[in-house]
Amino acid sequence: MTLGYLSVACYKGDLRRAARFLSLLLTGLALLAVAGYFLLARTTRGWFDSDLALRSRLAVSSARGSLENNLGADRARLTETLADITRDERIMGAAACSLGGELLAATDSYPAEFSCRSVLERMRSEAPEDALSWSMTPELPSGRLHLSVTFIGDAARPRGAVALVHDLSYMTRREETTRNILILAFFVLSLGASLVTLIAARLAWKGWTLALRRALTGNPTTEFQPLIRDVRTLAERLASEREREARGGLWSPERLRSTLTQYLQGERVVILANREPYMHEKTADGITVLHPASGLVTALEPVMRACSGVWVAHGSGSADRDTVDKHDRVLVPPGEESYSVRRVWLNEDEENGYYYGFANEGLWPLCHVAHARPIFRAEDYEHYVTVNRKFADAVCKEVDSDDPIVLVQDYHFGLAPKMIRERLPRATIITFWHTPWPNAERIGICPWRDELISGLLGSSILGFHTQQHCNNFIDSVDAFMESRIDREANAVIQGPRRTVVHPYPISIEWPVHWLSQVPPVAEARVLVRKELGFADDALLGVGIDRLDYTKGIEERLAAVDQLLARYPEFRGKFTFIQLAAPSRTKIPRYRELNERVEAVAAEINAKWSSGSYRPIVLLRSHHEPTAVFRYYRAAELCYVSSLHDGMNLVAKEFVAARDDERGVLVLSQFTGAARDLTEALIVNPYDLRQASDALAAALRMPVEEQTERMRSMRRLVSEFNVYRWAGRMLVDAAELRRKERVTGRLGAAGVFTRTEAV
Ligand code: F6P
Repeated sequence: MTLGYLSVACYKGDLRRAARFLSLLLTGLALLAVAGYFLLARTTRGWFDSDLALRSRLAVSSARGSLENNLGADRARLTETLADITRDERIMGAAACSLGGELLAATDSYPAEFSCRSVLERMRSEAPEDALSWSMTPELPSGRLHLSVTFIGDAARPRGAVALVHDLSYMTRREETTRNILILAFFVLSLGASLVTLIAARLAWKGWTLALRRALTGNPTTEFQPLIRDVRTLAERLASEREREARGGLWSPERLRSTLTQYLQGERVVILANREPYMHEKTADGITVLHPASGLVTALEPVMRACSGVWVAHGSGSADRDTVDKHDRVLVPPGEESYSVRRVWLNEDEENGYYYGFANEGLWPLCHVAHARPIFRAEDYEHYVTVNRKFADAVCKEVDSDDPIVLVQDYHFGLAPKMIRERLPRATIITFWHTPWPNAERIGICPWRDELISGLLGSSILGFHTQQHCNNFIDSVDAFMESRIDREANAVIQGPRRTVVHPYPISIEWPVHWLSQVPPVAEARVLVRKELGFADDALLGVGIDRLDYTKGIEERLAAVDQLLARYPEFRGKFTFIQLAAPSRTKIPRYRELNERVEAVAAEINAKWSSGSYRPIVLLRSHHEPTAVFRYYRAAELCYVSSLHDGMNLVAKEFVAARDDERGVLVLSQFTGAARDLTEALIVNPYDLRQASDALAAALRMPVEEQTERMRSMRRLVSEFNVYRWAGRMLVDAAELRRKERVTGRLGAAGVFTRTEAV
């Protein structure tokens, strides 16, 4: 316990408390030892005295006969008898007294201080009246003695008394020896205890200082590890998936294409997503093509290039109408033209109600735990219904069979799966929800939660990024819907319809095709520093986001501020570049965020700028992918600080960009990506101290460690790329179709009856 207390005190760095505790403990032990010694000495003395009294009585009684015979008769023989008694070396002297106090005989060594009269008087005053013997242990200048007086003769009529004096100097010597041994033992024990305590305390202190030193200087990176449980889950997943896929090799566009042909007879894929992959914009230089800043687009565009087919989306570019054919289609990618985008037009009211209103002021904050209150308006929901139907109709016009494969994307289209199913009962509808799905309690606050869940249950397969989101969805079904849940198969059954709910963690293409247009790392480093007017050895961090409150941009900048406050070595050297694409600016909350981010950046810059040095560079505009990848390559670190994010593909893009196997990813624990990229420095973005420690650790990380971490993350992203994501969903869909064909519901083998649809 003592050790524990001291260790805790030392571990907490309270050495003064530990020292005070140790001295108090030793003083207490010393007092206890002294008290113990005196108690022991008193008790043993008592035992000695009664032993001596007994021995004296025995000595007198053994010579009783002779003493009684010579008492009052022969002084010489009496003296001899007394001398016999004193042969015991510890009996110093003996005297025979008359009852009147007269000395009858005594040995030479009998001390004169004990006259017969004085001892008998003392006995009569101290001993009980009928006592036949009595003793005392007087302390004389010459030392301690034991005097005992024993009556001789008849007990009722004693005739005299014999006084025996024992020399107790041997006992004093023994006591001294015992005391010395005890003192020595106490010192040895105290010394031993102190040594053990000090060693333990020192070890604890060492552990604490080591941890501190690692956090401050050396290698603090072990402080930012993911949960072991997450690593274990990932390792198990990797092992089982690698085993399953060993035969097929890495997923690539070719493999995805051949999967489509092999399993789905080359069926065309129709994607429904609000955001289009290419936007045509009117500019001063004519019409230009923009690639929207969207994780969804980043992931799905390469899939469409590999599969061909149609992408049905909202035509939101200012020149979109000018670039479509009479069927509202445009072939993309420009120059490559491997698939088509079918644009759906929305009027302002529809866009306001469906996109800005229900989707982004209602569902977006509902699904993200980012402390923004969802706003639900009945008019918005009505637009959401109308627009979902409009897009569902467009999808049904684009399909070329009555059992097509339709991929419905995201929270903009929660109702569309059911609407498509009503029109195309035999369709295989794979819906992927790109944001988190909250728990049942939270989803319960949506006034149209039943319609939303029911709409999604029109899907054959419903995908989320993580198992947790799948569980939340199934719990929501359980809480609000009439249905049967097959937890073993992760499926929801309503009548004859079954929706499989499965996690498919989304990813990016590998290799990223944009990289062929981006300068290599060394060149990108020089270029970016030059563009920004920074020294060649400036240290750079980068953040790339839509300006959205879920991304934790304010917290990110505050972490940079903390870094500079707590680690002065980075002042004047480290700059964080935030590329922020304006997003949803019609929504007041987004406009406010825009202003707040600017104010925070200005405040930090005012605090730490010096000469041409600025700690924050805020670039609030759209950046094309080639520019974004240049920044990834130029930076020492990338910080993704989302407060809540389904996956976050910026993290994976940074990893893909770093073919030099350098650079450190600092990643929020609240992203889906944190479950896959366990070699990133995982942080809680709300914890500014921890986040700034992670930034410092990233900037100080030895090259070998950067390489080790980056290599491992690159291996993972290259294997678990977006072709695999799409491929696995398509393989699962094919399996579902096969089963349904076997059960006679699909294709030539069976006749579908209307009642089977929801
Ligand atoms: O997080 C899901 C997601 O679809 C992202 O992929 C995308 O960045 C965002 O939501 C939608 O953004 P926008 O409203 O600009 O289309």
